[in-house]
Amino acid sequence: MGNSLRAAALLAFVVLSILVSLLISSVQQFGARITHFSNATPAGDDEQLESLRGALIQQLNQRRKEILPLLVPDDEDENYAFSKRDPALESTVDSNLWNQITHGTSRAHMDAMGCESLVDMKAVEILGSGYTKLVVKVNLAGGQPVALKLVNEQGIDMGKCVEDFKDPQGCRELVGYKLKKEIVLLQRLQHPNVIKLRGHCVGDPGGQGGRGAEGGRLTVILEQGNPLQMIQLLQSPWEERFRVCLDLVRLLHFLSQSPLGSVALLDFQPRQFVTVSGELKLTDLDDASAEETACQTDADCTLQFPQKNFTLPCSSRGVCEGLNEKRNIYNAYRYFFTYLLPHQAPPGLTHLVNHIMNSTGELKADINQTLEAFEHILLLYKSGLHLDNLPPSIIRDYTVMQGMGTSGNVEYRCWPSYSQQGCVLSVHSAREAAHICNSHSQCTSFTLSGQRTWTGRLLASFRSGFSQLVPDSTSEVYVKKTKGSETPSDI
Ligand SMILES: Nc1ncnc2c1ncn2[C@@H]1O[C@H](COP(=O)(O)OP(=O)(O)O)[C@@H](O)[C@H]1O
Ligand SMILES: [Mg+2]
Repeated sequence: MGNSLRAAALLAFVVLSILVSLLISSVQQFGARITHFSNATPAGDDEQLESLRGALIQQLNQRRKEILPLLVPDDEDENYAFSKRDPALESTVDSNLWNQITHGTSRAHMDAMGCESLVDMKAVEILGSGYTKLVVKVNLAGGQPVALKLVNEQGIDMGKCVEDFKDPQGCRELVGYKLKKEIVLLQRLQHPNVIKLRGHCVGDPGGQGGRGAEGGRLTVILEQGNPLQMIQLLQSPWEERFRVCLDLVRLLHFLSQSPLGSVALLDFQPRQFVTVSGELKLTDLDDASAEETACQTDADCTLQFPQKNFTLPCSSRGVCEGLNEKRNIYNAYRYFFTYLLPHQAPPGLTHLVNHIMNSTGELKADINQTLEAFEHILLLYKSGLHLDNLPPSIIRDYTVMQGMGTSGNVEYRCWPSYSQQGCVLSVHSAREAAHICNSHSQCTSFTLSGQRTWTGRLLASFRSGFSQLVPDSTSEVYVKKTKGSETPSDI
């Protein structure tokens, strides 16, 4: 066990060393710009390379143009409003902001870290990678863990670009635009369920930044999360699965009326999310779009999914009404709710859960109604109102010992337990715990500790026996009165 851990650590170290050397070598190359293109090529190829270069530059401009409308000055709203009426001024404001992002010279307070923060950082492990980006966990000099996002040199985006344009440096810059777009979106779409941007560095990590900024390597510094593991989540208690869905709905509610308008997540997959202390956060934003779809008739407003198509109304303004919002809702339904929500929902809440499944799966509810339905479930679950039909007398079957814990426990496993070793479940009250204990044939006693879940429900440990009661001011032990063979004789 220890050996395999050490081996895994060693492997991770080797992978990281390669990664860091890759990073260093690409940082060293940053001075070389697209201009290196024309060097050392046979004369016959010059023309072809020239046209490839032209096409790449066109793409670079295109990517840049896509980001400009997302930029708004924080403290220059008046100027911005004015600039809206004056195209000449608009371009100045935009280019100033653009410089701030590309050069990292001026940073908003929430984006405070720069290249200097990365001096003496220690790479810990690779957190994940996708078509575009590579994410590495590092500890900063003070020990603070953060996630760094970089262009994924081995990713599909880089591979395709180099194949098309034969220019790794130009491609790094082109793919880097996705990171730039993500920075802008992270600045504009701040929400508890969007990953926090801690800063960014253009150029040499550890340097001053700014040098060769247009073509320099961009590193985005983010709060560190844990990649969402669907398989693990499927095995976790309903309460944790409900939390992920609720967080998602809160996020989609925000996105539907964000500062950028109604935003759709075009690449909506569990792998675009992480959790931070159990809270769901969106981390991949480069495919977010606030664009509205223009239409002439309703037929222009179809949402197509593998299993189902929907047609939405074309408004009198000539845009598809609520298309972005509805796209997000249906994706939430097909990637998250169907897997996470119905399974093992508390019996008193199943009718409400089923209602959500129907209304989102058929796109009958908008995001406001969906959020309301989720918050209503949360309220009932927290207050225990859904347990109304449990007889109060049920607790009379148990002897209570306050200020006590147990030792020498005889545990049994249940599913889905908060603990691997025994049976630990969340309950609203001792009454609900008694009801659960009665339904487990092995259960003869349970303990309520002071520990609570994210909803404020109590953690209860169920067991088939114990050898001793021990004083513990934070917990209470409930022992079944009816004699079970493993009830300790000293009680
Ligand atoms: N802040 C973070 N903390 C932990 N893991 C992350 C973080 N951000 C991203 N990841 C992981 O890295 C992977 C790649 O990041 P992502 O932004 O999705 O790149 P791409 O655009 O290439 O898909 C994600 O799928 C996720 O698992
Ligand atoms: Mg991704």
